Parts: sequence; C-alpha cells; structure tokens
Amino acid sequence: MAATRRRWTLRRRLVAIVVVLVAVVAAAMGTISTLALRGSLLTQLDDRLAATHRRTVEGPVRQGGVDLPRGRSDDGREPADQPGPFRPGQDAGTVTAQVPRGADPTDLTPAQASHVADDGALVALDEAQTEQLLAVPTDGEARSITLPGLGRYRVMATTAPDGSTDVTGLPAASVTRTLASFVAVETVVAAFALLAAAAGGLVLVRRELRPLDRVVGTANRVTQLPLDRGEVVLAERVPAEDTDPDTEVGQVGAALNQLLGHVERALAARHESESQVRQFVADASHELRTPLASIRGYAELVRRGPDELPPGALQAMARVESESERMTALLEDMLLLARLDAGRPLGAEPVDLTGLAVDAVADAHAAGPDHHWHLDLPSQEAVVTGDEHRLRQVLANLLSNARLHTPPGTTVTVGVHRCGDQVVVQVADDGPGIPPTLRDSLFQRFTRGDASRNSATGSTGLGLAIAHAVVTAHGGTITVASDPGTTFTVTLPATAS
Ligand SMILES: Nc1ncnc2c1ncn2[C@@H]1O[C@H](COP(=O)(O)OP(=O)(O)OP(=O)(O)O)[C@@H](O)[C@H]1O
Ligand SMILES: [Mg+2]
Repeated sequence: MAATRRRWTLRRRLVAIVVVLVAVVAAAMGTISTLALRGSLLTQLDDRLAATHRRTVEGPVRQGGVDLPRGRSDDGREPADQPGPFRPGQDAGTVTAQVPRGADPTDLTPAQASHVADDGALVALDEAQTEQLLAVPTDGEARSITLPGLGRYRVMATTAPDGSTDVTGLPAASVTRTLASFVAVETVVAAFALLAAAAGGLVLVRRELRPLDRVVGTANRVTQLPLDRGEVVLAERVPAEDTDPDTEVGQVGAALNQLLGHVERALAARHESESQVRQFVADASHELRTPLASIRGYAELVRRGPDELPPGALQAMARVESESERMTALLEDMLLLARLDAGRPLGAEPVDLTGLAVDAVADAHAAGPDHHWHLDLPSQEAVVTGDEHRLRQVLANLLSNARLHTPPGTTVTVGVHRCGDQVVVQVADDGPGIPPTLRDSLFQRFTRGDASRNSATGSTGLGLAIAHAVVTAHGGTITVASDPGTTFTVTLPATAS
C-alpha cells in the first residue's frame, strides 16, 4: 500500500502561497523593468551611435566653425601614437571603418578601420574584426554584433554617395554592466521581499488563524466531557468574539455553538426520558411488592391452613408461593438497579472485605456443599468505604454464580488482597468458563446463558449487572477472565488506615 503523504497544515500552505505569489510578482516586475531599462539604454546608445556615425561620415570635424585638420584635437595637440585621423567627441571604444569602393577589406589602413583605445589612440582593427564590421548591412539601422577581442557592439553602416562603406560602432558593455548591476540589485531586493513575505505571512496567518485554534480547543474540551450517561451539562461554547458570521472562522465557531446547543438539548431530552423510564421501573417495582407479598402470604396461609387440600392444589399453592418469592427477588433487583441508575447515594461506612468474604463463603458452603470452597485472606487490613449491604450482595452474586453455573465438585477460591491503595477481591472457579457468546455483554442486564435460562435455578441475568453497578458506584472496577475456569476480579479503592 502506498504510504499516505502527510498533508501540509493550512497555516503552512497559506504562507507558501503568499511566498510563491510574491516570488511570481517580483519575477514579473523584475523581468519587465529589466527589459524596459534595456530598451531605454539601447535607445540612448543608438542615439549616440547615430550621432557618432553622422560625425564620422560627415568629417572633417568641425568645431567652433573652424576646420581642424584630421588627427588634431581642438587644442592643436597631436595625441601620442596616433596612426590615423582623430575625431574629438569619439568615446573610447568607438569603432569606425571607412572603406572606399573596391578597396581590399583585408588590407586597410588604421585611418580606414580602427577603434579608439582607452588612452584615446586609434588602434587598427584586425582582419576578423574588419570582416565582421563589413558584414553589417548598410541600411543605417543599429544592430548588435560581437567583435572578436572587443566584445559586444552596437553598429550602424551606410553607403556614401561615392560608394564607400561607413561603419560606426559603440561598445555595448556599459549597457550590459548597467543591466547586470540592476538585475543584481533587483535580485537582492526580491530575496529580502521573499524573506519579509515569509516572516510577515507566518505572523499574520498565525494571528488570523488564532480564532480557529480557540474553536478547536472548544471542540477538544467537549470531546473530554462525559456525555454518555446521567445529566449532562454541556456548558462549553466557542467565545462570542470567535462567532462573527462575517468571517469564515466565525461561521465555523457559530456553527459549532449551534451544534453544541442542539446536542445539549438532545441529551437533556434523552436524560429526561431515561429518568422517566427509570422512575417508572422503580415505582412499578415498588408498587408490585405489596400485592406480591399478599399473594405469597395468602398462598402460604392456604397451604398451611387447617383445610385438607387435594395434592394437586397443595403443589400448585407451593408453586405460587415459590414463584412469588422469585418475582419479589426480581423486583428487588430491578428496584436496586433503577436506584443505582438514578445515582441514589449509597452508604459510606468502613467495610472490612475480609469479614464479608468469610461470611459469603460460609453461606455459599451451606448452599452448595458439593463444591469445594477456599478462602485466601490477606495479612493486611482490607477495608473500603462503602455500603456494606450492597458489597455483601456483590460477593453473594459472584459466589452464587460460581455455585449455580458450574458442576458439583468445582473448586471455588475467594481471595482478598491489598494492592497499593486498592483492595482486590477475586472469585475464581475451575468450572466450564463463561460461554464465548456472553463475554461481551456479561455485565448487561438480563444477559444469561441458555443453560441458566432453562434451569430451575430462577436465573434472571441481573446478578452481574447489579455487581457491576454497585462496584462502579463505589468507584471501583469489575472484570472477568475466563477459559479455563472463570475469575471475577473486583477492585475497590482502599480506605487509608
Ligand atoms: N462462574 C461462572 N461460570 C460459568 N458461567 C457463569 C459464571 N458466572 C456467570 N456465568 C454466566 O453468566 C450469566 C450471567 O450471570 P448473572 O449472574 O448476571 O445472571 P444469572 O446468574 O444467570 O441470573 P441471576 O440474576 O440470578 O444472577 C449466567 O447466566 C451464566 O451463564
Ligand atoms: Mg447470577
């Protein structure tokens, strides 16, 4: 299976988008401004080229209305090593070629093809350079060429009326240099802009998304609330300043608040109906106890009465009596569960579980003499705070299960231990174990095995549900391990001695 790629957080994606946008804008602006600058520099260079070309073509040079001989500057000084005509106003690097018609381009004098060196001297062009120059079309248009040994040039060529070719070139190095430094400055500025966008974006996005963090915090706190039972108080809400419907995050906050309000009302309604059902069960169980007691009493009265009854009627009366006793026990269990569900407070006296275990095993021994009963008692005190009557019932339920759901001869061991600040009670038997189909729902009401359902033991499937409810109400836990045998483990918080 392909590994799932971790998605970027919204925060990181927004910052990345800002940085990419700034980079694209900076690149576009840089490219456009560089092209514009290049165009403008070339235009300036071309203007200078055209002027220089004109002066070259129109020579001899005139200044102040005085004709100066070729090769002499306006102060009359002859430049050193000047091999040819000197034209004042020509920049260093300027290239000129004036080739008469029919002249051999490979055999030109410096006066015919030269460039102005940095010190102002005219230096003859070599053959390759002259060839490049003479290859320029003579249409008077400025063009870019590369002269071997001299670099990039802007050149212009025309044909004079006498048929000679005039070519003038100005070095493009200054344009290239200016552009290079402009691009360097722009790159540095763009890099700073990107850094600023990343840092500023991070701060701003974090600040803008802070309300979302608060919404998430509210949702997280709600997930930790115990909503599964009892009366639920769902007071958590997104703060009012984060529920502005004009902002996206505010809409999320407002929607979450609406959802929480809806859930709170639904939970309150559920709690209300559960309370009603519980109250009904409690009331019904309570109300049925009195008529049941009467039925049992009258049945006993008839059975023990002085009147001679036919054997069938006697047996029927005994059945009425035993069934009403069973029903009374069932009602008591239902009433107890309804009260525990309603959170009725239990007794809170110190209860010595060692004593309870001794009593419970003694009772179980009397009720099931065919089982082997063992006690494993602690050396330390095992006192918990709770309702003695209910805890006694928990032990009685576990021991009656070990007696009723295992065959005769089964060994049952009741152990009590002190484990840190807990008291652990274990009821273990080496019987057949809990049927696998029951294991998941063992502590739910009316869960019982088929064998128990069919037996005449009066099994109702409430014993473990009551044990669970009582232990939980005491702040403890009850677990089961089965196969082979069965071990119920009850853990209760010990009372500090
Ligand atoms: N020690 C045990 N060994 C085997 N099966 C058991 C044991 N304890 C409980 N069970 C199974 O778990 C089921 C549920 O037990 P629970 O005590 O809740 O109900 P019950 O014993 O059937 O009825 P009652 O309400 O009378 O206790 C039983 O019906 C039985 O099938
Ligand atoms: Mg039972």
